[in-house]
Amino acid sequence: MISKNYKIYNKSCYGLSELENESIDALITDPPYGISYQNHYWDKDLPKREIWEDTLRVLKEGS
Ligand SMILES: C[S@@+](CC[C@H](N)C(=O)[O-])C[C@H]1O[C@@H](n2cnc3c(N)ncnc32)[C@H](O)[C@@H]1O
Repeated sequence: MISKNYKIYNKSCYGLSELENESIDALITDPPYGISYQNHYWDKDLPKREIWEDTLRVLKEGS
């Protein structure tokens, strides 16, 4: 039997600085869309550019 160790992070997308470059296999997210969905405060704005820059940095190529 092949055994592999995986690690799951469940956290804010801000602050991925502790993660190494190209170290993540998959990032699953359902971010705010900036459409004020049902007038929710968290949907007033889109996520900051920093999130997507960090995301691209930590994801492995082809992930
Ligand atoms: C489109 S909703 C996703 C709802 C979720 N998929 C559900 O079914 O309950 C966006 C969610 O992102 C959360 N959110 C906003 N900023 C966040 C951040 N920096 N990190 C993690 N979650 C955040 C909001 O609180 C909101 O619940």
